[in-house]
Amino acid sequence: MERWHKEAIVYQIYPKSFMDTNGDGIGDIRGIIGKLDYLKELGVNAVWLSPCYPSPGDDNGYDISDYRGIAPEYGTLEDFKEMLDGMHAREIRLLMDLVVNHTSDEHEWFVESRKSRDNPYRDYYIWRDPVDGHAPNEWVAAFGGSAWEFDEATGQYYLHLFSKKQPDLNWENERVRQEIADMINYWLDMGVDGFRCDVINNISKDFTRPYAGGNGPRLHEFLHELHVRALEPHKALTVGETWGLTPAQALELTGEKRGELTMTFQFEHLLLGRVNGDKFDPEPLDKKAFVDILAKWEIGLKADSYPVLVMENHDQPRALSRFGDLDFPYESATMLASMLYGMRGVGFIYQGQELGLHDPTFNSLDEYRDIETLNAYKELKESGKFTDEELLAKMQYGSRDCGRTPIPWTREENGGFTSGTPWIKAQVDKGFTVEEQDGDEGSVLNFYRKMLKLKKSSECLMDGEFELLLNESDTSVYTRTLGDEKIFVVCRYADTESEMPDCIPADCEVILNNYKEVGKTLKPYQAIWFKK
Ligand code: GLC
Ligand code: CA
Repeated sequence: MERWHKEAIVYQIYPKSFMDTNGDGIGDIRGIIGKLDYLKELGVNAVWLSPCYPSPGDDNGYDISDYRGIAPEYGTLEDFKEMLDGMHAREIRLLMDLVVNHTSDEHEWFVESRKSRDNPYRDYYIWRDPVDGHAPNEWVAAFGGSAWEFDEATGQYYLHLFSKKQPDLNWENERVRQEIADMINYWLDMGVDGFRCDVINNISKDFTRPYAGGNGPRLHEFLHELHVRALEPHKALTVGETWGLTPAQALELTGEKRGELTMTFQFEHLLLGRVNGDKFDPEPLDKKAFVDILAKWEIGLKADSYPVLVMENHDQPRALSRFGDLDFPYESATMLASMLYGMRGVGFIYQGQELGLHDPTFNSLDEYRDIETLNAYKELKESGKFTDEELLAKMQYGSRDCGRTPIPWTREENGGFTSGTPWIKAQVDKGFTVEEQDGDEGSVLNFYRKMLKLKKSSECLMDGEFELLLNESDTSVYTRTLGDEKIFVVCRYADTESEMPDCIPADCEVILNNYKEVGKTLKPYQAIWFKK
């Protein structure tokens, strides 16, 4: 594996909400092409593009009906190639979304598969006979209800870990694995640089378990085979979406010599503020744990892997609303960024995060679009435990739609995202648009630009050893060390002042600061990178 991932800063584009150029209210590839200079100026050098393949849209594109095409609402394959060339001309690499745990039920493989028990595609999916007239086991789908759907025509159940329009592929079938490898080669031959691999640790199932989930017995074997058949020959970079791993398990998937994935996301800190990780069940945020978890992964992966630094994506509400302070939007957004991206690892930035966006306000159920939110609402309502008002508060707290509204480019109607009616509400708040932040030295956007420039240009920030020196009373300090160079990252995670920690040597240079001054105390949400 080449070393470029250590220098990567990745910007995630959720195409549906990025920029619309033809007035249909849906973002498109030409919209991305028009914003490539914006990305270049931000300082990212890679893009992860959420799915833009043909899809019925049950799960906004994570239900793919054709792995080799581009969805007509997003453009054509020619547009895609032009976008890719435009990225490469700016030294920006492209990671596509690889969604191969499941397809859409409208994919031709599944259309064939469900026709008859002896169809040549039958075994591309996971079919089981009923057991005592019921589903084969108790597994529950991520979007609610049983993970098994009965199909009248052939009298069997098929497995779907997500919606029933997302049947799971049968990775035990060699033909399926070869088709996927061929498809990966098709995109890599076109010049794509790698993939973000959707729920990838689910591809091998373990039917001895009482609950649905990942890390089945053949996971490593399947990933290694893909590596040999497609990824390694192209030197492609992969990052696995892998929920619920320990650092030790992550090392087994990403260790340098394993030949499986380049990196995996770790999301443990994103479960905070949620009772048992349930996104619709709020609890107060444990800020000390937030820092401790990040530190645990830094240390846990240092031996033989490279971490991924993430706090937002299209499945999460905005970090400012979850982990920051709406009374200190600039200070807390930039503090969180300083804390996270000062660490060792590839920074992932989700569109709009660089503006310090907070969650939009959803006033009624019909403003939501996400299948997970709508299903959860229905299920919680049927439980009879909550009033309508309580239910709406829950959705506002955890819905994936909080991070899926359009980017506010300008102060115009719909933030200049579309001249038509946006597919989901577009909220434009004063001070949060690209137009306003671009020329403002004191904006979150310009802070990100400055910070990313530093991160990319420093070997110490890239690969220096991490050590947590202090994490108490809402103040943390960690260091990054490479040779003689040391960088101290100091963060105040509260709306009050505190003493400057005495572990910072006197003769340091300030290289990043979200306040104008460095005084004797740390100001609310002040974050400083010192270089020694
Ligand atoms: C991943 C995606 C999410 C999607 C799910 C099923 O978690 O990030 O958006 O709903 O997989 O594909
Ligand atoms: Ca459009």
